[in-house]
Amino acid sequence: MTILVTGGLGYIGSHTVVELLNSNFEVVIVDDLSNSERFILNNIEEITGKKPIFYPFDLKRKELLNQVFDAHQIDGCINFAAYKAVGESQEKPLDYYENNLFTLINILQEFKVRNISNFIFSSSCTVYGQADVQPIDESTPMKTPESSYGKTKQMGEEILKDFAEAHHRKVSLLRYFNPIGAHPSAKLGELPLGIPNNLVPYVTQTASGIREKLNIWGNDYPTEDGTAVRDYIYVVDLAKAHVQALQKLISSGEEKVIDIYNLGTGKGSSVLEVVQAYERANGVEVPYQICDRRAGDITIAYANANKAERELGWKADTPLEEALRTTWQWQKYLESREV
Ligand code: NAD
Ligand code: WQD
Repeated sequence: MTILVTGGLGYIGSHTVVELLNSNFEVVIVDDLSNSERFILNNIEEITGKKPIFYPFDLKRKELLNQVFDAHQIDGCINFAAYKAVGESQEKPLDYYENNLFTLINILQEFKVRNISNFIFSSSCTVYGQADVQPIDESTPMKTPESSYGKTKQMGEEILKDFAEAHHRKVSLLRYFNPIGAHPSAKLGELPLGIPNNLVPYVTQTASGIREKLNIWGNDYPTEDGTAVRDYIYVVDLAKAHVQALQKLISSGEEKVIDIYNLGTGKGSSVLEVVQAYERANGVEVPYQICDRRAGDITIAYANANKAERELGWKADTPLEEALRTTWQWQKYLESREV
């Protein structure tokens, strides 16, 4: 079977392409390299011994997308392509709505006319906002996200539900918690663009001396050590969930399926716990200072991922320290490429 993977050279996409190839799917990648680089494609090939087909273009270009569907018998899509910087989305909301929603609609139009089913969407725990109860399961009420980025995820989910209902198709909405880590080969990982916003990339750059110290955004939260709590999920575990969600859609005898899964570990870790685990895992020091809270941050979010375990037979079981070790190895790899 041939799966279109949009954003397949990005952070989560590249790891998922490896898992798809290892599970004997044919993969067609479309990625405009707006947040990735070509060497990732070579590294996917080095890891798997297989070369996915790659088209470097912007998915907003309908005519090019149309040609890809003409050239390949596509059986399904995992749609990673999106802009994802929360802060930037507040400054450029139209760019975020345009890129994250027009691209989605363009692919779905092709699915509609060509009668293709099996669509997997990268959603986010951001759709829950600050939930009233932890852990968060799929029936937890959604709240309107503060950021335009978050709103594109909520709208994307609605678009897909309507699409599945109207055209009798199978879709899976995967709500990721906080993905971290890199491939064990150290050949794939998150590519830092400017100053990282996310915790683990910032910790990594601090440990390696690129940043002087980590700013911990607030230690006056109502949590055990006062720092905010999140559910950090290892990216390879996350990638595997996509293959399992896809296999479930493919094997379902139903005409219409709307699956929704929270993908997390089920365990919350505070910012300070992550810093300490990083130091232990890698034998490095992470200097930090406590600062005011970051605007828009929530106190606590961690998943109840029992539904994914029950229905997909999937569980994120890589320990935090192991995931953090791979991040450090990836950083060393990136530094070795620079010299
Ligand atoms: P990423 O930026 O590393 O990957 C996205 C890829 O899509 C990039 O390679 C980029 O070049 C490509 N892309 C973007 N717009 C495109 C377009 N118009 N046409 C073609 N290619 C385009 O991001 P990621 O961390 O791998 O995230 C993947 C998906 O998961 C995104 O939809 C993101 O919103 C979602 N998500 C990410 C996180 C996270 O913390 N990383 C959490 C929840 C959800
Ligand atoms: C984690 C914790 C920070 C950086 C974001 C998006 C969300 C999802 C995942 C895509 C928070 C603290 C961070 C730093 C810090 N993405 N922190 N110093 O905010 O949970 O979620 O990424 O869908 O939509 O909002 O992740 O990694 O930015 O922060 O103290 O330099 O680390 O305050 O408590 P977040 P994060």
